[in-house]
Amino acid sequence: MKKIIITILVVAFFSLYLFAQTNIKPSVNRGKIVYETYCLTCHQDDGAGVPKLNPTLSNTSYTTGDKKKLITWVLKGTTDKIAIDGKFYSNNMAPQNYLKDEEIADVLTYIRNSFGNKASAVTVAEVKAVRATVK
Ligand code: HEC
Repeated sequence: MKKIIITILVVAFFSLYLFAQTNIKPSVNRGKIVYETYCLTCHQDDGAGVPKLNPTLSNTSYTTGDKKKLITWVLKGTTDKIAIDGKFYSNNMAPQNYLKDEEIADVLTYIRNSFGNKASAVTVAEVKAVRATVK
């Protein structure tokens, strides 16, 4: 009986340890600060944006979609009028390429896991790889 209890305890603690390793919370917390500093003025504190001006970040094909496309968007911004899930927005988004790789990874992990979104984390390596291809 003792052996079983010890085994269960060992497994439980090991699982907890693994969970902590893959936990994205620290990145989300840092990303929130980046968001509040650089993105909130346009996309608003609830990520809902401003109708016809700045798009929502809630479950858009960009925010929770392909990570390369999302990283490229944030690095380059846009002055083109691009339909976002069928809607147009009159404001422009300036390139956010002054942000460090880690700041971009954190802010994107934050927006992909806020405003009702649930999507995988963005890593520093992924941002670095895309930045190397974006002029
Ligand atoms: C000056 C206002 C402004 C700021 C600041 C800004 N954005 Fe945007 N963002 C926009 C506009 C406007 C668009 C849509 C442009 C278009 O339709 O052509 C957009 C589009 C996006 C999109 C793609 C469309 C969507 O809704 O999913 C993402 C993702 C995004 N922004 C993330 C960010 C992040 C992250 C930051 C901060 C690092 C940021 N933005 C800062 C105005 C802004």
